[in-house]
Amino acid sequence: MQKPLNNKNVLLGICGSIAAYKSPDIVRRLQDLGAEVRVVLTAGGAEFVSERSLQTVSKNKVHDNLWDAEAELSMGHIELAKWADAIVIAPASANTIAKLCHGRANDLLTTLILATTAKILIAPAMNQQMYASMATQDNLKLLESRNMVIAKPEFGEQACGDIGEGRLAEPTSIALQAANLFQNTQLGGKKVMITLGATIEAIDPVRFISNHSSGKMGMALASACIEAGATVTLIIGSISVAVESRAINIFVTSADDMLEAVMSNIGEQDIFISCAAVADYRPVNIAQNKIKKDSETLSIELVRNPDILANVCQMKNKPICIGFAAETENLIKNAKNKLKNKGCDAIILNDVSNSKIGLKSDQNEVFFITKDNCEKINITSKIIIAKKLVEKISEVLI
Ligand code: C5P
Repeated sequence: MQKPLNNKNVLLGICGSIAAYKSPDIVRRLQDLGAEVRVVLTAGGAEFVSERSLQTVSKNKVHDNLWDAEAELSMGHIELAKWADAIVIAPASANTIAKLCHGRANDLLTTLILATTAKILIAPAMNQQMYASMATQDNLKLLESRNMVIAKPEFGEQACGDIGEGRLAEPTSIALQAANLFQNTQLGGKKVMITLGATIEAIDPVRFISNHSSGKMGMALASACIEAGATVTLIIGSISVAVESRAINIFVTSADDMLEAVMSNIGEQDIFISCAAVADYRPVNIAQNKIKKDSETLSIELVRNPDILANVCQMKNKPICIGFAAETENLIKNAKNKLKNKGCDAIILNDVSNSKIGLKSDQNEVFFITKDNCEKINITSKIIIAKKLVEKISEVLI
């Protein structure tokens, strides 16, 4: 029978927490789901669970030392980082969580995390007050925004006698959550096109009209769609964010270029997400030479740019169309009008009058609006917003 972790290499990192005594059971539950398991034990973890138990259940030598020359000869730390399809840190201590946030690499486990492209699941376990502390909560949010998944601890009585949230999630649940890292098929097989960034409308060979769009929201959506199994084509204007290398990337400058790139690739797409900040107007004429500052005033006549989203929405066999609405007043009313007027299936609304969110910020707060639905996604990183939007798109529109 095919098991969810068949052919998957899972590295289990164990940190210093009393819950480490449950870790041999986690190894067994991961194996039940078909995984090949290797163990990395931190110095703290070794205080609570024996290397021998872990070696026996995992049927592999336990890795515990960044500087062990012999271990490096058989499977070095970089090789181990590449071997893993998933790294599960369970229990994850507050200390290791904080080190991961800073990109520290002062032991084998933290070094592996920096050197890996594997999927990462973090299962915190600690005293309830340590877990509730602002530092730990902020750190976990940061790790989540870096695409790590958190296996939430449970509420209950703790080894120290406290009662609260901080008990390690059950081994079976951790193993299932590890399997789920590979199960996201919300957009499996779908083709998604996303426009993003600002368009640049030339005035003369050196000047242009543009806007503050960074492309961060669009790029986060691209990653979330890829993680959910989609093939993504990006039509990219001016951006200040790293390009998602797993997408098909097409670079454009002006709104006209963007329209052409969209229309020549839209035929095969299932979903179109129009995230670009397209300049509404462009100069009627682009001066051949740099305009001199001869006169006190200068007028530039502008003409409306094509509405790319509306063009796609008017196609006969249109894909599912999702637009963005950046509003400063009458937010929901304006967004609902836009949904209707442009003929799209959903509008993602953000309030651009709030400088903490939108445009250049790493954070956003949006409403996902369809004909019958209006749901708020509270302020959080654009990466998490993107994941939640993908969930919404797959639930409501597909
Ligand atoms: O009409 P408004 O510019 O507010 O609409 C915003 C939505 O329409 C965004 O999804 C944006 O990407 C898209 N749009 C477009 N072409 C334009 C203007 C906006 O595709 N010329």
